[in-house]
Amino acid sequence: MTDLSATTHADALAGLDTPAVVIDAAKVEANLRRAQAYADRHGLRLRPHIKTHKMPHLALRQVELGAAGITCQKLGEAEVMADAGLADIFLPYNIVGAAKLARLAALKRRIAISVTADNAVVVEGYAAAFADADAPLTVLVECDTGMGRCGVTTPEAALALARTIAAAPGLRFGGLMTFPATHRAVEARDFLERSIARLAAAGLPPAVVSSGGTPDLYAAGDDAGLVTEYRPGTYVFSDRFQVAKGVGGYDDCALGVLATVVSRPTDSRAVIDAGSKALTSDLLGLDGYGYLPAYPEARIASLSEEHGVIDFSASPRRPAIGERLFVIPNHVCPVVNLFDTVHFLHAGGSIEERRVAARGRVG
Ligand SMILES: Cc1ncc(COP(=O)(O)O)c(C=O)c1O
Repeated sequence: MTDLSATTHADALAGLDTPAVVIDAAKVEANLRRAQAYADRHGLRLRPHIKTHKMPHLALRQVELGAAGITCQKLGEAEVMADAGLADIFLPYNIVGAAKLARLAALKRRIAISVTADNAVVVEGYAAAFADADAPLTVLVECDTGMGRCGVTTPEAALALARTIAAAPGLRFGGLMTFPATHRAVEARDFLERSIARLAAAGLPPAVVSSGGTPDLYAAGDDAGLVTEYRPGTYVFSDRFQVAKGVGGYDDCALGVLATVVSRPTDSRAVIDAGSKALTSDLLGLDGYGYLPAYPEARIASLSEEHGVIDFSASPRRPAIGERLFVIPNHVCPVVNLFDTVHFLHAGGSIEERRVAARGRVG
Protein backbone atom coordinates (compact mmCIF):
# COMPACT_ATOMS: atom_id res chain seq x y z
CA MET A 1 0.00 0.00 0.00
CA THR A 2 1.61 3.20 -1.14
CA ASP A 3 1.57 6.77 0.02
CA LEU A 4 -2.08 7.86 -0.13
CA SER A 5 -1.15 11.09 -1.87
CA ALA A 6 0.56 9.02 -4.58
CA THR A 7 -2.40 6.76 -5.28
CA THR A 8 -4.43 7.52 -8.35
CA HIS A 9 -7.51 6.36 -6.47
CA ALA A 10 -7.60 8.93 -3.70
CA ASP A 11 -11.17 9.87 -4.69
CA ALA A 12 -12.44 6.34 -4.20
CA LEU A 13 -10.72 6.11 -0.83
CA ALA A 14 -12.19 9.45 0.26
CA GLY A 15 -15.51 7.67 0.81
CA LEU A 16 -14.05 5.28 3.39
CA ASP A 17 -14.37 6.11 7.04
CA THR A 18 -11.36 5.37 9.25
CA PRO A 19 -9.77 3.32 10.60
CA ALA A 20 -10.22 0.94 7.68
CA VAL A 21 -8.20 -1.85 6.16
CA VAL A 22 -7.48 -1.22 2.49
CA ILE A 23 -6.03 -3.97 0.32
CA ASP A 24 -4.52 -3.42 -3.12
CA ALA A 25 -6.04 -6.30 -5.10
CA ALA A 26 -3.41 -6.19 -7.87
CA LYS A 27 -0.59 -6.50 -5.34
CA VAL A 28 -2.29 -9.47 -3.70
CA GLU A 29 -2.57 -11.19 -7.06
CA ALA A 30 1.09 -10.45 -7.83
CA ASN A 31 2.20 -11.78 -4.43
CA LEU A 32 0.20 -14.99 -4.88
CA ARG A 33 1.47 -15.55 -8.43
CA ARG A 34 5.10 -14.91 -7.51
CA ALA A 35 5.05 -17.49 -4.71
CA GLN A 36 3.21 -20.09 -6.77
CA ALA A 37 5.62 -19.66 -9.68
CA TYR A 38 8.58 -20.02 -7.31
CA ALA A 39 7.12 -23.20 -5.77
CA ASP A 40 6.37 -24.64 -9.21
CA ARG A 41 9.90 -23.88 -10.40
CA HIS A 42 11.38 -25.76 -7.45
CA GLY A 43 8.98 -28.70 -7.45
CA LEU A 44 7.46 -27.71 -4.10
CA ARG A 45 3.78 -28.07 -3.32
CA LEU A 46 2.43 -24.80 -1.97
CA ARG A 47 -0.08 -25.08 0.86
CA PRO A 48 -0.76 -21.46 1.85
CA HIS A 49 -1.64 -20.66 5.45
CA ILE A 50 -4.94 -18.78 5.44
CA LYS A 51 -4.60 -17.44 9.01
CA THR A 52 -3.24 -14.26 7.44
CA HIS A 53 -6.27 -13.36 5.30
CA LYS A 54 -9.09 -15.50 6.77
CA MET A 55 -11.13 -14.94 3.59
CA PRO A 56 -12.45 -17.86 1.52
CA HIS A 57 -12.29 -16.05 -1.82
CA LEU A 58 -8.52 -15.61 -1.39
CA ALA A 59 -8.09 -19.25 -0.37
CA LEU A 60 -10.01 -20.32 -3.46
CA ARG A 61 -7.81 -18.07 -5.58
CA GLN A 62 -4.67 -19.63 -4.05
CA VAL A 63 -5.93 -23.08 -5.02
CA GLU A 64 -6.95 -21.87 -8.48
CA LEU A 65 -3.39 -20.63 -9.01
CA GLY A 66 -1.99 -24.06 -8.16
CA ALA A 67 -1.87 -24.53 -4.39
CA ALA A 68 -2.12 -28.17 -3.33
CA GLY A 69 -4.60 -27.25 -0.60
CA ILE A 70 -4.59 -24.83 2.29
CA THR A 71 -3.34 -24.68 5.86
CA CYS A 72 -5.52 -23.48 8.75
CA GLN A 73 -4.31 -23.00 12.30
CA LYS A 74 -7.63 -23.55 14.03
CA LEU A 75 -10.69 -25.74 13.56
CA GLY A 76 -12.89 -22.65 13.34
CA GLU A 77 -10.93 -21.41 10.33
CA ALA A 78 -11.11 -24.84 8.73
CA GLU A 79 -14.90 -24.97 9.23
CA VAL A 80 -15.33 -21.62 7.49
CA MET A 81 -13.06 -22.67 4.64
CA ALA A 82 -14.77 -26.06 4.24
CA ASP A 83 -18.14 -24.30 4.05
CA ALA A 84 -16.74 -22.24 1.18
CA GLY A 85 -15.64 -25.30 -0.79
CA LEU A 86 -12.01 -25.73 0.24
CA ALA A 87 -11.64 -29.50 0.15
CA ASP A 88 -8.06 -30.22 1.28
CA ILE A 89 -6.96 -28.70 4.59
CA PHE A 90 -3.90 -29.25 6.76
CA LEU A 91 -4.27 -28.28 10.41
CA PRO A 92 -0.77 -28.21 11.92
CA TYR A 93 -1.98 -28.16 15.50
CA ASN A 94 -2.40 -30.54 18.45
CA ILE A 95 -6.18 -31.05 18.69
CA VAL A 96 -7.00 -31.60 22.35
CA GLY A 97 -10.29 -32.39 24.10
CA ALA A 98 -13.55 -34.14 23.26
CA ALA A 99 -15.31 -31.07 21.85
CA LYS A 100 -12.55 -30.34 19.37
CA LEU A 101 -12.09 -33.99 18.39
CA ALA A 102 -15.83 -34.16 17.59
CA ARG A 103 -15.48 -31.09 15.36
CA LEU A 104 -12.45 -32.65 13.69
CA ALA A 105 -14.42 -35.83 13.04
CA ALA A 106 -17.27 -33.80 11.54
CA LEU A 107 -14.82 -32.02 9.25
CA LYS A 108 -13.21 -35.28 8.23
CA ARG A 109 -16.57 -36.56 7.01
CA ARG A 110 -16.75 -33.57 4.63
CA ILE A 111 -13.21 -32.92 3.37
CA ALA A 112 -9.66 -34.24 3.22
CA ILE A 113 -8.08 -33.09 6.47
CA SER A 114 -4.79 -33.89 8.17
CA VAL A 115 -3.43 -32.79 11.54
CA THR A 116 -0.25 -32.90 13.60
CA ALA A 117 0.81 -34.25 16.99
CA ASP A 118 3.94 -33.68 19.03
CA ASN A 119 3.15 -35.99 21.95
CA ALA A 120 1.60 -39.35 22.78
CA VAL A 121 -1.34 -37.87 24.72
CA VAL A 122 -2.57 -36.09 21.60
CA VAL A 123 -2.09 -39.24 19.53
CA GLU A 124 -4.13 -41.22 22.09
CA GLY A 125 -6.92 -38.68 21.69
CA TYR A 126 -6.85 -39.08 17.90
CA ALA A 127 -6.71 -42.88 18.19
CA ALA A 128 -9.76 -42.93 20.46
CA ALA A 129 -11.78 -40.61 18.21
CA PHE A 130 -10.71 -42.16 14.89
CA ALA A 131 -10.85 -45.94 14.85
CA ASP A 132 -11.92 -46.69 11.28
CA ALA A 133 -9.00 -48.44 9.54
CA ASP A 134 -10.70 -47.94 6.17
CA ALA A 135 -10.76 -44.14 6.57
CA PRO A 136 -7.78 -43.31 8.77
CA LEU A 137 -6.95 -39.82 10.01
CA THR A 138 -3.62 -38.62 8.64
CA VAL A 139 -1.31 -37.37 11.39
CA LEU A 140 2.07 -35.70 10.85
CA VAL A 141 4.67 -35.38 13.57
CA GLU A 142 5.47 -31.77 14.44
CA CYS A 143 9.19 -31.16 14.88
CA ASP A 144 10.72 -28.26 16.80
CA THR A 145 13.67 -27.41 14.57
CA GLY A 146 14.60 -24.22 16.43
CA MET A 147 11.40 -22.22 16.91
CA GLY A 148 10.98 -23.30 20.54
CA ARG A 149 7.20 -23.68 20.30
CA CYS A 150 5.49 -27.05 19.78
CA GLY A 151 7.27 -30.04 18.33
CA VAL A 152 9.32 -33.06 19.29
CA THR A 153 12.83 -31.92 20.03
CA THR A 154 14.89 -34.84 18.74
CA PRO A 155 14.80 -37.08 15.65
CA GLU A 156 14.55 -40.06 18.01
CA ALA A 157 11.36 -38.63 19.50
CA ALA A 158 10.02 -38.02 15.97
CA LEU A 159 10.53 -41.70 15.14
CA ALA A 160 8.98 -42.88 18.41
CA LEU A 161 5.87 -40.77 17.83
CA ALA A 162 5.62 -41.85 14.18
CA ARG A 163 5.63 -45.46 15.39
CA THR A 164 2.84 -44.70 17.89
CA ILE A 165 0.75 -43.12 15.13
CA ALA A 166 1.40 -45.95 12.69
CA ALA A 167 0.42 -48.54 15.31
CA ALA A 168 -3.06 -47.02 15.80
CA PRO A 169 -5.56 -48.72 13.46
CA GLY A 170 -7.54 -45.54 12.72
CA LEU A 171 -4.50 -43.31 12.14
CA ARG A 172 -2.04 -42.98 9.28
CA PHE A 173 1.47 -41.56 9.72
CA GLY A 174 1.55 -38.75 7.16
CA GLY A 175 5.06 -37.37 7.58
CA LEU A 176 6.84 -34.48 9.28
CA MET A 177 5.89 -30.86 9.82
CA THR A 178 7.97 -27.97 11.09
CA PHE A 179 7.61 -24.22 11.47
CA PRO A 180 11.26 -23.23 11.40
CA ALA A 181 12.64 -20.19 13.15
CA THR A 182 13.19 -17.27 10.79
CA HIS A 183 16.43 -17.54 8.81
CA ARG A 184 17.48 -20.74 10.61
CA ALA A 185 16.80 -23.11 7.74
CA VAL A 186 20.14 -24.87 8.17
CA GLU A 187 19.17 -26.13 11.63
CA ALA A 188 15.77 -27.21 10.32
CA ARG A 189 17.40 -29.07 7.44
CA ASP A 190 19.73 -30.94 9.76
CA PHE A 191 16.89 -32.00 12.07
CA LEU A 192 14.70 -33.10 9.16
CA GLU A 193 17.50 -35.01 7.42
CA ARG A 194 18.32 -36.97 10.54
CA SER A 195 14.63 -37.67 11.24
CA ILE A 196 13.94 -38.80 7.68
CA ALA A 197 16.92 -41.16 7.78
CA ARG A 198 15.66 -42.76 10.98
CA LEU A 199 12.11 -43.04 9.67
CA ALA A 200 13.27 -44.59 6.39
CA ALA A 201 15.42 -47.13 8.24
CA ALA A 202 12.38 -48.05 10.36
CA GLY A 203 10.19 -48.58 7.29
CA LEU A 204 8.22 -45.37 7.84
CA PRO A 205 9.44 -42.97 5.12
CA PRO A 206 7.52 -39.69 5.43
CA ALA A 207 5.20 -39.05 2.48
CA VAL A 208 5.04 -35.34 3.32
CA VAL A 209 7.67 -33.06 4.81
CA SER A 210 5.94 -29.74 5.38
CA SER A 211 7.75 -26.52 6.19
CA GLY A 212 6.68 -22.91 6.13
CA GLY A 213 7.12 -19.23 6.84
CA THR A 214 7.25 -16.20 4.57
CA PRO A 215 10.67 -14.90 5.69
CA ASP A 216 12.36 -17.96 4.15
CA LEU A 217 9.85 -18.60 1.36
CA TYR A 218 12.20 -17.56 -1.43
CA ALA A 219 14.98 -19.79 -0.08
CA ALA A 220 12.70 -22.83 0.27
CA GLY A 221 13.91 -24.13 -3.09
CA ASP A 222 17.26 -24.91 -1.43
CA ASP A 223 15.45 -27.61 0.57
CA ALA A 224 13.42 -29.07 -2.31
CA GLY A 225 13.97 -32.81 -2.29
CA LEU A 226 13.92 -32.80 1.49
CA VAL A 227 10.88 -30.60 2.01
CA THR A 228 7.88 -31.55 -0.14
CA GLU A 229 5.47 -28.73 0.68
CA TYR A 230 5.67 -25.16 1.95
CA ARG A 231 3.11 -23.17 3.98
CA PRO A 232 3.58 -19.42 3.63
CA GLY A 233 0.90 -17.19 5.13
CA THR A 234 1.97 -13.57 5.34
CA TYR A 235 3.22 -13.46 1.72
CA VAL A 236 -0.34 -12.68 0.55
CA PHE A 237 -0.20 -9.14 1.97
CA SER A 238 3.33 -8.81 3.40
CA ASP A 239 4.06 -6.33 6.20
CA ARG A 240 6.78 -4.30 7.87
CA PHE A 241 8.34 -7.38 9.50
CA GLN A 242 8.68 -9.16 6.16
CA VAL A 243 10.29 -6.07 4.61
CA ALA A 244 12.71 -5.98 7.56
CA LYS A 245 13.52 -9.64 6.88
CA GLY A 246 14.28 -8.88 3.24
CA VAL A 247 11.14 -10.32 1.66
CA GLY A 248 10.52 -7.65 -0.99
CA GLY A 249 9.95 -3.99 -0.22
CA TYR A 250 7.15 -1.73 0.93
CA ASP A 251 5.92 -1.71 -2.65
CA ASP A 252 4.97 -5.36 -2.20
CA CYS A 253 2.85 -4.60 0.87
CA ALA A 254 -0.75 -4.97 -0.26
CA LEU A 255 -2.48 -3.98 2.98
CA GLY A 256 -2.59 -0.67 4.77
CA VAL A 257 -4.63 0.61 7.68
CA LEU A 258 -6.14 3.91 6.61
CA ALA A 259 -6.20 6.33 9.55
CA THR A 260 -7.02 9.98 10.19
CA VAL A 261 -4.92 12.52 12.07
CA VAL A 262 -7.22 13.63 14.89
CA SER A 263 -4.85 15.72 16.99
CA ARG A 264 -1.57 17.69 16.76
CA PRO A 265 -0.84 18.42 20.44
CA THR A 266 2.69 19.67 19.70
CA ASP A 267 4.67 20.62 16.62
CA SER A 268 6.29 17.19 16.42
CA ARG A 269 3.45 15.00 17.68
CA ALA A 270 0.38 13.76 15.86
CA VAL A 271 -2.30 11.35 16.97
CA ILE A 272 -4.21 9.06 14.60
CA ASP A 273 -7.49 7.24 15.15
CA ALA A 274 -5.82 3.81 14.96
CA GLY A 275 -4.41 2.35 18.16
CA SER A 276 -3.76 -1.15 19.39
CA LYS A 277 -7.31 -2.23 18.47
CA ALA A 278 -6.51 -1.52 14.82
CA LEU A 279 -2.74 -2.03 14.53
CA THR A 280 -2.16 -4.53 17.39
CA SER A 281 0.69 -4.04 19.86
CA ASP A 282 2.99 -6.43 18.02
CA LEU A 283 6.51 -5.08 17.68
CA LEU A 284 8.23 -8.26 16.48
CA GLY A 285 11.52 -6.70 17.45
CA LEU A 286 10.93 -3.57 15.35
CA ASP A 287 11.12 0.04 16.49
CA GLY A 288 7.66 1.59 16.45
CA TYR A 289 4.22 0.23 15.64
CA GLY A 290 4.10 0.50 11.87
CA TYR A 291 5.45 2.29 8.81
CA LEU A 292 3.97 5.41 7.25
CA PRO A 293 4.73 5.44 3.51
CA ALA A 294 3.88 9.15 3.30
CA TYR A 295 6.22 10.02 6.17
CA PRO A 296 9.06 7.49 6.17
CA GLU A 297 11.01 9.33 8.88
CA ALA A 298 8.08 9.40 11.32
CA ARG A 299 7.86 6.89 14.13
CA ILE A 300 4.66 5.46 15.63
CA ALA A 301 5.97 5.83 19.14
CA SER A 302 3.14 4.48 21.27
CA LEU A 303 -0.36 3.12 21.09
CA SER A 304 -3.30 3.11 23.39
CA GLU A 305 -6.43 1.28 22.37
CA GLU A 306 -7.86 3.93 20.08
CA HIS A 307 -4.93 6.34 19.68
CA GLY A 308 -1.71 6.03 17.74
CA VAL A 309 0.88 8.56 18.84
CA ILE A 310 3.34 9.51 16.10
CA ASP A 311 6.63 11.32 16.60
CA PHE A 312 7.44 13.53 13.62
CA SER A 313 10.61 15.09 15.04
CA ALA A 314 12.78 13.41 12.40
CA SER A 315 10.36 14.20 9.58
CA PRO A 316 10.81 17.32 7.46
CA ARG A 317 7.06 17.36 6.75
CA ARG A 318 4.18 17.09 9.20
CA PRO A 319 0.51 16.30 8.66
CA ALA A 320 -2.46 18.53 9.32
CA ILE A 321 -5.44 17.59 11.47
CA GLY A 322 -7.88 15.70 9.26
CA GLU A 323 -5.19 14.32 6.95
CA ARG A 324 -5.53 10.61 6.21
CA LEU A 325 -2.59 8.28 5.96
CA PHE A 326 -1.79 4.65 5.49
CA VAL A 327 0.00 2.60 8.09
CA ILE A 328 1.77 -0.58 7.00
CA PRO A 329 1.39 -2.75 10.10
CA ASN A 330 4.31 -4.54 11.72
CA HIS A 331 2.40 -7.84 11.66
CA VAL A 332 -0.50 -8.04 9.28
CA CYS A 333 -2.12 -11.33 10.40
CA PRO A 334 -3.59 -10.19 13.74
CA VAL A 335 -4.60 -6.86 12.18
CA VAL A 336 -6.93 -8.62 9.73
CA ASN A 337 -8.42 -10.55 12.66
CA LEU A 338 -9.44 -7.24 14.27
CA PHE A 339 -11.70 -6.05 11.44
CA ASP A 340 -15.18 -7.31 10.47
CA THR A 341 -14.65 -6.21 6.89
CA VAL A 342 -11.79 -5.07 4.68
CA HIS A 343 -11.80 -3.01 1.48
CA PHE A 344 -10.22 -4.26 -1.72
CA LEU A 345 -9.06 -1.49 -4.03
CA HIS A 346 -9.20 -2.71 -7.62
CA ALA A 347 -7.37 -1.37 -10.64
CA GLY A 348 -9.66 1.33 -12.02
CA GLY A 349 -10.51 2.58 -8.56
CA SER A 350 -13.50 0.50 -7.54
CA ILE A 351 -13.67 -0.54 -3.92
CA GLU A 352 -15.09 -3.89 -2.84
CA GLU A 353 -15.93 -4.52 0.79
CA ARG A 354 -15.36 -8.10 1.93
CA ARG A 355 -16.21 -9.81 5.18
CA VAL A 356 -13.31 -11.41 7.05
CA ALA A 357 -15.29 -14.62 7.33
CA ALA A 358 -12.95 -16.46 9.71
CA ARG A 359 -12.10 -13.52 11.95
CA GLY A 360 -12.41 -14.39 15.60
CA ARG A 361 -12.42 -18.09 14.79
CA VAL A 362 -9.57 -18.79 17.18
CA GLY A 363 -10.77 -22.09 18.59
C1 LIG B 1 2.46 -23.66 11.61
C2 LIG B 1 2.64 -22.47 10.74
N1 LIG B 1 2.86 -22.64 9.43
C3 LIG B 1 3.00 -21.60 8.59
C4 LIG B 1 2.93 -20.31 9.05
C5 LIG B 1 3.07 -19.18 8.08
O1 LIG B 1 4.10 -18.31 8.41
P1 LIG B 1 4.21 -16.88 7.72
O2 LIG B 1 3.05 -16.10 8.15
O3 LIG B 1 5.53 -16.36 8.15
O4 LIG B 1 4.19 -17.11 6.25
C6 LIG B 1 2.72 -20.09 10.42
C7 LIG B 1 2.68 -18.73 10.96
O5 LIG B 1 2.39 -18.44 12.08
C8 LIG B 1 2.57 -21.19 11.28
O6 LIG B 1 2.37 -21.03 12.60
